[in-house]
Amino acid sequence: MVNIGIIGCGYIGRRHAEHIHAHPGAKLSGVYDIDTKAATDLAEAFDSEAFMELDKFLKLNLDIVHVCTPNGLHAELSIEVLKSGKNVLVEKPMEINSTSAAQMLACARENSKEIFVVKQNRYNPPVQRLKKLISEQGLGRVFQVDVRCYWNRNKEYYDQSSWRGSLELDGGCLYTQFSHFIDVLYFLFGRPTAVQGRTANFQHPYIAIEDSGSFSFQLPNEVLGSLTYSTCAFNQNIEGSITVLAEKGSLKIGGKYLNSIEFVQGLEREFEDMPHSAPANNYGFYEGSMSNHNIVIDEVVRFHEGQLSGLTSGEDGLAVVEIIESFYNNSKRIHG
Ligand SMILES: NC(=O)c1ccc[n+]([C@@H]2O[C@H](COP(=O)([O-])OP(=O)(O)OC[C@H]3O[C@@H](n4cnc5c(N)ncnc54)[C@H](O)[C@@H]3O)[C@@H](O)[C@H]2O)c1
Repeated sequence: MVNIGIIGCGYIGRRHAEHIHAHPGAKLSGVYDIDTKAATDLAEAFDSEAFMELDKFLKLNLDIVHVCTPNGLHAELSIEVLKSGKNVLVEKPMEINSTSAAQMLACARENSKEIFVVKQNRYNPPVQRLKKLISEQGLGRVFQVDVRCYWNRNKEYYDQSSWRGSLELDGGCLYTQFSHFIDVLYFLFGRPTAVQGRTANFQHPYIAIEDSGSFSFQLPNEVLGSLTYSTCAFNQNIEGSITVLAEKGSLKIGGKYLNSIEFVQGLEREFEDMPHSAPANNYGFYEGSMSNHNIVIDEVVRFHEGQLSGLTSGEDGLAVVEIIESFYNNSKRIHG
């Protein structure tokens, strides 16, 4: 039985708790939050114990702690957990600057512990198929990759919590809304370089971060890359997609969160009989990425049972933070 603790009992902390509670090989041994009600409500709902003091929580017998707090607190809390001799699974993004993310990784190594990052879109069936195809050189030469993320985030979303939209704790749309897309781009095609772009805040004057961006870059093996994103889509999400043009065919993984094959030509057989994709994380008045947290918890249990695990490494988490940082560092804000 894997003993798991959760730090941060908000939206995603609850999602972790649901799947840990439902897993026969896992036990939710304790939860910690600075908000007493959030911690006690979650503990009551999932038959666990609530803690309001971190040092007492860390005295529990835990194999791994899931860090589910706002982005900019991931390093400080993960480092405390690692120093106490427990493994960490931190929610995406690993952090909102590469110095902090590198410190998390260094702390894990110093304490001979593991740090993993939640990147559940890697498990989306179309993404898995494309990864396999790429590893078998099934695309031939890749010419161009285009990522598009057109989502809606309104004032109600940002009013939910003061960390959302702040530079110190949120960091930007590429960290909070679209880091999964950057992660999948990196997972499939490698690290973007020669990044150039523009960002803007057109419709969200009450937040410090951007709400739109447009970038061009280069991928390994002389592939052209582009990324366009926005949280200004009217009323609801439009799409979250990756289009690939290659020698042996073209395809578009689309839907609103990389959940379906929208177009395929030349590679039809490779994408036959796709397993069903899970629905999006539904937060009531807005939707997020594909809800694969059940697979994440399966992988946590497999890791602690000594099996090969498909969890995303801290090294990959750091790479994604470095990539996002390079996007922001090589962009100009043109509005807002
Ligand atoms: N993997 C995904 O698809 C996905 C989806 C949503 C959110 N997330 C990530 O999960 C994290 C949390 O997002 P959320 O939407 O659940 O936020 P939230 O605001 O709903 O919850 C955050 C919780 O952390 C608690 N908290 C704040 N500071 C704390 C501290 N110092 N110590 C302990 N607890 C503290 C808050 O009281 C709150 O209960 C973010 O990093 C976000 O990017 C990931």
